[in-house]
This record gives sequence, structure tokens and C-alpha cells, in this order.
Amino acid sequence: MAPPFEFATARRIVFGEGAAREVAPAAAALGRRALVVTGASPGRARPFLAGLQAAGIACVPFAVAGEPTIALIAGGAERARGERCEMVVAIGGGSALDAGKALAALLTNPGEPLDYLEVIGRGQPLEHPSAPFIAVPTTAGTGSEVTRNAVLASPAGVKASLRSPFLLPRLAVVDPELTLDLPPALTASTGLDALTQLIEPYVSKRANPMTDLFCEEGIRRAAGALPRAWENGQNRTARCDMAWASLLGGLALTNAGLGAVHGFAAPIGGMFPAPHGAVCAAVLPHAIAINVQALRARDAAGPALGRYEEVARLLTGQPQATAEDGVQWIAQLCRRLEIPPLRAYGVAAADIPRVVEKAAHASSMKGNPVALTPEELGEIVARAL
Ligand SMILES: NC(=O)c1ccc[n+]([C@@H]2O[C@H](COP(=O)([O-])OP(=O)(O)OC[C@H]3O[C@@H](n4cnc5c(N)ncnc54)[C@H](O)[C@@H]3O)[C@@H](O)[C@H]2O)c1
Repeated sequence: MAPPFEFATARRIVFGEGAAREVAPAAAALGRRALVVTGASPGRARPFLAGLQAAGIACVPFAVAGEPTIALIAGGAERARGERCEMVVAIGGGSALDAGKALAALLTNPGEPLDYLEVIGRGQPLEHPSAPFIAVPTTAGTGSEVTRNAVLASPAGVKASLRSPFLLPRLAVVDPELTLDLPPALTASTGLDALTQLIEPYVSKRANPMTDLFCEEGIRRAAGALPRAWENGQNRTARCDMAWASLLGGLALTNAGLGAVHGFAAPIGGMFPAPHGAVCAAVLPHAIAINVQALRARDAAGPALGRYEEVARLLTGQPQATAEDGVQWIAQLCRRLEIPPLRAYGVAAADIPRVVEKAAHASSMKGNPVALTPEELGEIVARAL
């Protein structure tokens, strides 16, 4: 008998090559005035703006140059309110999508981001449903198009989430064609973020039978497709599989939680100029290695070790694979995809205590399958340097 669980997602998901054509007609049914959030290269979104305008929608453009900050969102909310936007359409990587989500929430809820941010803010619940929000990812990736959080960076060097069921988009449009031009380094780092978001929910304390299905399918797909998408960005089958895996990761993480890799991604991404996907990629093999080691020492009979063994089987395609084989497979993939170590972003051995202190309090750490000691957490960062 399946154990009880809850599962929530975007109200509607449209997936497939060419799906982006759905955006303008869907937006036209939701309002007449949209804040259109784009990423660091707004030029890529120009055809979208034209499509929205042709559908009779007045567009207020809002470009997000990097990962969104509290100040950026506070300014954007003022602008969107002043322009009387009725909805938000975001097209871009996780940065544009998270910004769009936060702005859609602040269109209908009073105040500023810090009123609602967890960990570093006042953590008040959002009282009103967000304005209608359409999410169109161009990386594969974060899965943010189906998650109920938006990550914002603070000036104090911490990243924290706005989190509410109201943040789930009204419509998620996942069109793999939009990822065809991702350069290899971004394909690698965002793809390893997607893989992390499939492995961590699978071994999470909050895993459920529905997220397990998504994780098993997603891990298998990403294992085959990521090297192929990295080698040849125009490989449509590989891009489709990665977009699918990324979507599955979002569905899984928002319902089953994450773990140590994302526990580190928040402080390291806040303290150093290191992109989210790059931090996840650098930390992933080492976090799994230490988790497996800790589980063998303290919970060898528990279910988590078996889950890591299943991950290894899914990654390698070998029915006899051990958890350690899975660690080796991921470490080898990171080498093949030329993932830079953390020191490439300025992280040094002297930073380890500060990083560990912050990671231990990150919300993602709560899902980790075993409580890690400060020494074990430090060892993960030391190996990732
Ligand atoms: N809300 C969530 O559930 C969730 C989950 C994971 C990560 N995140 C957040 O998402 C952000 C990272 O998102 P990301 O990894 O997608 O990166 P990103 O959105 O920061 O984009 C990285 C770079 O890729 C470029 N880019 C995007 N699409 C492209 C394309 N198709 N072709 C060429 N270049 C393209 C962007 O312009 C940018 O320069 C972080 O802020 C992270 O904290 C959120």
C-alpha cells in the first residue's frame, strides 16, 4: 500500500518542441497588461514580446541581469504595481523565472520581499494568490517552472527563498527548442543542477511514491542525455530529454525537498560570484560520497543507502552497481564536462568554517538523508575546492 503523501504543481504544464507558441494565446486569456521578465540577454526574448504584443497584450519589459537580489525584486515590484500589470510572463533561466515568481506574488501582496523571505526575512505567509504567472524556462535546469519557491540573494551574502503554494505558476511552458543554443559550459552546470534535483529528492527524508517515479525516470534520462547535449547542443533528442529531466526535477524537489548539495549552494552562491548550477555541479560527487560514507557508518540498515544503490543502477545501467559506483560515475561525468572546482570562484580553505556554519542552517539541509557533522560538511567543501 502506498504511504500517504501530498503533491502540488503548476496549474497547467505544456511540454514539447514548439510549445512556446502556446504562450501568447494563453497570456491573452489571463489579462491585457503583462510584466515580461527576461534574463541577462533580453534579445533572446524579442520574438516572445512581439508574439505577446500581436496577441493584444501591453508588455512592460523587466530584464534580470544575474541571479535575482532582494533589491532588484523590491524595485521591480514597485515598477509592476505602478504600471498596473495584471500578470507576469517570465522567459529565461531560473533567475528570470524566480524573479517573475516573486514579482507576481508582490503584485497582489503588500510590502517588500523581506516581509516574506524565509531564514533571513520576517517569513510571513503570503495572504493572497499571486497574479497569474507564466513560466518559460530556457535552461534545463532548475525546474523552477513547477516549484513553489523563488530564490533571492541578500546583500549579506545569503540566498533565501520566498516559499508559498501561491508561487506555483499558472502555466509552465517547457519548450526544449529554447535550450538549443545553450553553450556547453551552461549545458553542463545547469544539467548537473537538474541531475542533483533528481537525486536529492530521491534520497530525501520526504521522498514520496509519486516523486520517486519522477526521479527514477529523470535520473535515467539525464544520465544518457547530458553528455550528448554537452557534446552537440543541436542534438534535439538530448535537449528534449534534458528539458524533461529538468521538469521532473522541479516536480520532485518542490514535493520531496533537497539535501546537502543545495544546503551548500545557498551560502556559497551568496558569498561568492558562483552561479547556482556551477556550485551544485562542483559539490555533487563529494556530497554523495560523504553521505554514503556516513550512512554506512551510522545507518547501514536504513532505506537511504538502498536509494543511493538504486541511483547508481539508474546512472550506470548496471544492475549490480554499488552506491560507490554511482559516486565514481558522477565524478567521471564532472571531469568529462569540465566542471570547475569551487576554488575557480574564489572559495578557499579558510572559508570552510563560515560556509559550513551557514550551510548547516540552510532549509535544504533538512531533507538530507543523514544528519552530517560539521567535520563531514567541512570535508565535502574541502574535496570540492
Ligand atoms: N525556484 C527554484 O526551484 C530554483 C531551483 C534551482 C535553482 N534556482 C535558482 O535559479 C537560478 C539559476 O538559474 P539557471 O541555472 O537557469 O541560470 P540563470 O537563469 O542565472 O542563467 C545563467 C545564464 O544562462 C543564460 N541563458 C539562459 N538561457 C539561455 C539560452 N537558452 N541560451 C544561452 N544562454 C542562456 C542567461 O542569460 C545567464 O547568463 C539561481 O538563482 C538559483 O538559485 C531556483
